[in-house]
Amino acid sequence: MTVDIGGKAHRLEGRVAVVTGGASGIGLATVRRLAAEGAHVVIGDLDPAAGKDAADEVGGLYVPTDVTDPAAVENLFKLAFDTYGAVDIAFNNAGISPPDDGSILDTGLEAWRKVQEVNLTSVYLCCKAVIPYMQRQGRGSIINTASFVAVMGAATSQISYSASKGGVLAMSRELGVEFARQGIRVNALCPGPVNTPLLTELFAKDPERAERRLVHVPMGRFGEPEEIAAAVAFLASDDSSFITANTFLVDGGISGAYVTPI
Ligand SMILES: NC(=O)c1ccc[n+]([C@@H]2O[C@H](COP(=O)([O-])OP(=O)(O)OC[C@H]3O[C@@H](n4cnc5c(N)ncnc54)[C@H](O)[C@@H]3O)[C@@H](O)[C@H]2O)c1
Repeated sequence: MTVDIGGKAHRLEGRVAVVTGGASGIGLATVRRLAAEGAHVVIGDLDPAAGKDAADEVGGLYVPTDVTDPAAVENLFKLAFDTYGAVDIAFNNAGISPPDDGSILDTGLEAWRKVQEVNLTSVYLCCKAVIPYMQRQGRGSIINTASFVAVMGAATSQISYSASKGGVLAMSRELGVEFARQGIRVNALCPGPVNTPLLTELFAKDPERAERRLVHVPMGRFGEPEEIAAAVAFLASDDSSFITANTFLVDGGISGAYVTPI
């Protein structure tokens, strides 16, 4: 499925956006969407080949970045500022969902810590690094990728992943409140299951796994990365100027459903 953005929306003309995890999936679709709306895009990602390709495609900048490394994160936002003179938008989106993170009974401390580092500590580091730039500008929009599992429980547990996303949600809400009067908005984006490499790999091996989940989605399908990117562009733009500290669910209705249509 492709989502037509009509080529009309141009809400981010001249804005500078940093996207972590911008080399794939939701991040890549967002890189394209933000650029299509006029933003200069800076990609921070572990994957040098895909990261550079994505940056080249939109005339942006790729900065090799491990989001768990404080110095690398600081360097990412500094390079964005030094290159384009501002940092208006931070989409803190890099995340992992490894197979050794499952039920609490089977998940070891090392697997737990790895997911916490990449999914939660990274968002702490990115927000800590970007907020001072936004304070100086008196303006900024931070969008942190959480997940619908931050607000719903799953019997098919990925315990560290869910806990990390709960942390992202709570942190985003608190930052949104703390910096609300300084022109900085902070929202947690909570996607439902989305067709990205992260998800397709997991389900390709086991169609029953996909079916077990699809039954809970009122719309009867997974989301597309472009549909999440459209929500990010909205939260990044002044169209969402009265929205902060929000739990922004883009989930095909999952979190509102009890019985779904047949
Ligand atoms: N796909 C889904 O169904 C879904 C649902 C809800 C939330 N999310 C969240 O959305 C975000 C993006 O997921 P996706 O599905 O697009 O995943 P993806 O695997 O397609 O892309 C993730 C990107 O993050 C990068 N990355 C991983 N670790 C990194 C690190 N330490 N430093 C820098 N970059 C790193 C990868 O190289 C990759 O480019 C994640 O936070 C994920 O938890 C995904």
